[in-house]
Amino acid sequence: TTTYLTGIQTSGTPHIGNYIGAIKPALAAAQSTEDYDTLYFLADYHSLNTVKDPAELRHNIRSVAATWLACGLDPQRTILYRQSHIPEVFELATILSSVTAKGLMNRAHAYKAARDRNEAAGIADLDAGINMGLFNYPVLMAADILIMESDYVPVGRDQAQHIEYTADIAGSFNHLYGDSYSFPIPQGSYPAGEASLLPGTDGRKMSKSYDNTIPLFLPENKLKKLIRRIPTDSTPVEEPKEPDTSVPFQLLTQFADADRLAQTRKRLEAGGMGWGELKNELFEVINAEIAPKRERYEELMASRELDDILAAGAERARQRSRRVIAQVREAIGIA
Ligand code: TYM
Repeated sequence: TTTYLTGIQTSGTPHIGNYIGAIKPALAAAQSTEDYDTLYFLADYHSLNTVKDPAELRHNIRSVAATWLACGLDPQRTILYRQSHIPEVFELATILSSVTAKGLMNRAHAYKAARDRNEAAGIADLDAGINMGLFNYPVLMAADILIMESDYVPVGRDQAQHIEYTADIAGSFNHLYGDSYSFPIPQGSYPAGEASLLPGTDGRKMSKSYDNTIPLFLPENKLKKLIRRIPTDSTPVEEPKEPDTSVPFQLLTQFADADRLAQTRKRLEAGGMGWGELKNELFEVINAEIAPKRERYEELMASRELDDILAAGAERARQRSRRVIAQVREAIGIA
């Protein structure tokens, strides 16, 4: 059977970029009538690069698990687990390091961006403040994907390079050891259009590191306030407006149905509809979709259910990871 796998870092409370770019498409695959295997996990060791406060990390782990479940993940159907519960991931990461070119890692976007920031700040040592966890990040991510023999990885566009690297690393392994064991070569599965790179409140990609996110489960009044603060141009209410270049309209396309969207577009282009009214509409459609999930999220955060679900998920995930690592060990000559 075809396997879908994806992960979310436990670096905070998920935002609507995560929801539209990954959670919703991944759950659609899980709910499809096709008989897919679906494994969705919490990338808790990945987030150790940025989250250094243990209490915060524990909270984030619960928060990401509760988000998956509140959004409709059925733990009977989908294996939900924590990366840290699967020791085979880390063993495989070590093995994969030995078939991964350092030059490939030098070209990784996140690592290069960190060096560029140092350069822009006039710091002579471009690697200053960059830890090995950031540098090795793509290898660990390849291990996440390959240990479960994944075929498709539903993610946003920002992860495309990581998926290409994973395919590359799998190819190197297969080239060396393919007579004994080969990984399936995984593919990214990206949502269409804006959904694959949702803008944040300032128009750049919505990302925790830009501090421009709309957290998914913000209380209603805070959600409304945050949406009101999204900057728009100063076209007066009566004047015609350009919907497609405005952030509120771009966000609206992900939450409103086609009829409503067409109507709003018409009214903006004709003039007479102000940005304020558009933002009210955006709040309404987001809140209508999120409100029931928010309630379930709060319930889950207050219960012990999460731990049991994650323990059961780890059990099932490890049946797979143990089988794969045994074959890998055999192929490389360790077993
Ligand atoms: P992370 O935790 O940053 O984001 C989780 C998912 O949300 C998507 N996403 C977005 N999609 C559309 N628009 C946006 N503005 C936006 N921001 C985030 C991401 O593309 C991602 O799908 N490296 C991964 C976590 C990871 C992983 C894996 C994913 C670790 N191991 C193995 C898949 C398979 C990350 O940092 O995602």
